[in-house]
Amino acid sequence: MSTTFTIDTATSRANPTPAPMKRLTVPAIQRRKFEGKTVEPLVMLTAYTARQAQLLDPHCDMLLVGDSLGQVIYGLPSTLAVTLDMMCAHGAAVVRGSYHSVVIVDMPFGSYEASPQAAFASASRIMAETGAAAVKLEGGQAMAETISFLSQRGIPVMAHIGLTPQAVNALGGYGARGKSQEEHAKIMADARAVATAGAFAVVLEGVMEELAIAVTDSVDIPVIGIGASAHCDGQVLVSEDMLGMFERTARFVKRYENIAQTIADAAQRYAADVRDRSFPTDDQVYRPKK
Ligand code: KIV
Repeated sequence: MSTTFTIDTATSRANPTPAPMKRLTVPAIQRRKFEGKTVEPLVMLTAYTARQAQLLDPHCDMLLVGDSLGQVIYGLPSTLAVTLDMMCAHGAAVVRGSYHSVVIVDMPFGSYEASPQAAFASASRIMAETGAAAVKLEGGQAMAETISFLSQRGIPVMAHIGLTPQAVNALGGYGARGKSQEEHAKIMADARAVATAGAFAVVLEGVMEELAIAVTDSVDIPVIGIGASAHCDGQVLVSEDMLGMFERTARFVKRYENIAQTIADAAQRYAADVRDRSFPTDDQVYRPKK
């Protein structure tokens, strides 16, 4: 399948849309877990830009516009300073660049915790400005009322439990969760609470594998693992991590490429060409036609 389609500026849609690739829907994602089992695991990657979305989209079921863009795109020390404006701008770009995957946009820190009403105002803005199909928010039992409020009002919610990066200050770091019996019990209770509240899926991040298996088996919504277990109903990674953009990543990241090296090598060759005037060549300059 070609991945070199363009954005149709009249419709803001990817063009051409290959016929067999209709956009998936939230209910279709939810149905992939049937009677507690997911035969074909769900594939999710993060995307922040239109072109990145174009390239990832044919291979994914879901594209997550994660607030990890704070660190990955903006060089922030954590996700805490990410704003609704940032999420809306990147969410809209990812929707424009995709035609197949369900696009889910993270609700940034401070945009949803105060009340279900505050969450609705933020989530409805995200949905209206981006065209995404769903939002994601961090928190388990504490967010159950909000998840229920949003889902009953037409906003599908993906929950995020376990290691929740927006709570880094409360958690004391990014270490794996679920090591103690109390944490294990709390994360199990969080999973059940978000499922009961109406979340259509839940991201389970950075937990002991035994707990990931238990959570996956105990809720009827898809559990999308990151640093969890291959037993989960699907997996997500930050695309730049799996592409090898950064020297240091979490233990749970598998690198499929080394694009940092590819970019550095290309920049080095370009700089050498500029410095010895071997770029541009005849092929890259404009001259009157003969
Ligand atoms: O922000 C993000 O990219 C995420 C994923 C790591 C799940 O929440």
